[in-house]
Amino acid sequence: MCGLTAAILLTGFTSCGKRDVNSPGVEFMPDMYRSPSMEVYGTSVFNGDTIFSSQFLPVKGTIARGYIPYGYPNTDEGYLQAGLNLKNPIAFSESVVKEGEVLFGKYCIHCHGASGAGDGKVGLKLPGPPPPYTSVALKNLPEGKIFHSITYGKGVMGNHASILTQEERWKLVYYVQKLQGPKETASADSTKTGNAKEIKKEEKTK
Ligand code: HEC
Repeated sequence: MCGLTAAILLTGFTSCGKRDVNSPGVEFMPDMYRSPSMEVYGTSVFNGDTIFSSQFLPVKGTIARGYIPYGYPNTDEGYLQAGLNLKNPIAFSESVVKEGEVLFGKYCIHCHGASGAGDGKVGLKLPGPPPPYTSVALKNLPEGKIFHSITYGKGVMGNHASILTQEERWKLVYYVQKLQGPKETASADSTKTGNAKEIKKEEKTK
């Protein structure tokens, strides 16, 4: 007990010693005191002149950290090229599909409906409700076109580029593909016949 009191007194006295009064003392987390980002109206000296560096526009072609540019323009040609060339960069796994499902529940379900049939509460009120993902038009929609349409929107469907990262959009592509069901592929004849039956069934129900 005595030792502890002595230690507290000693610390108390030594901390009031003759030190540099302008010293901020020990900084546990310097980043918290000295932000690396520019201050509004912050100045710096450039070629001997004091300038408001925070008011400079970024150099042309500057890309924000963590931002991945999307190279296909919002045109018919861009849509076509995205469909031909773009491949999902995320490795497929059940957990990725599950993450896509969660995103779908937040951003898409109200228009497209839980099964992608286009029967969401908002979707049904649209002048033209979204076509079902299993429809002849959308069943074979390639992944690049799905990604492109989520990115820029299509018809009354809005643009999602600013609210979903590219990674999230690709996860959604996997979930949309799950809702599309098995694809009709030109190379695999067995799938072709299977799908031909399905398409006939779909035409009958129309
Ligand atoms: C405001 C309602 C609405 C929302 C929200 C919405 N969509 Fe759509 N979506 C539509 C409509 C309507 C179409 C049909 C557009 C057309 O072909 O004119 C469509 C079309 C699509 C297509 C087909 C695109 C193509 O190239 O033909 C895909 C894929 C799709 N949506 C996925 C999504 C995903 C994924 C989300 C969530 C991130 C989403 N949509 C959110 C209404 C919506």
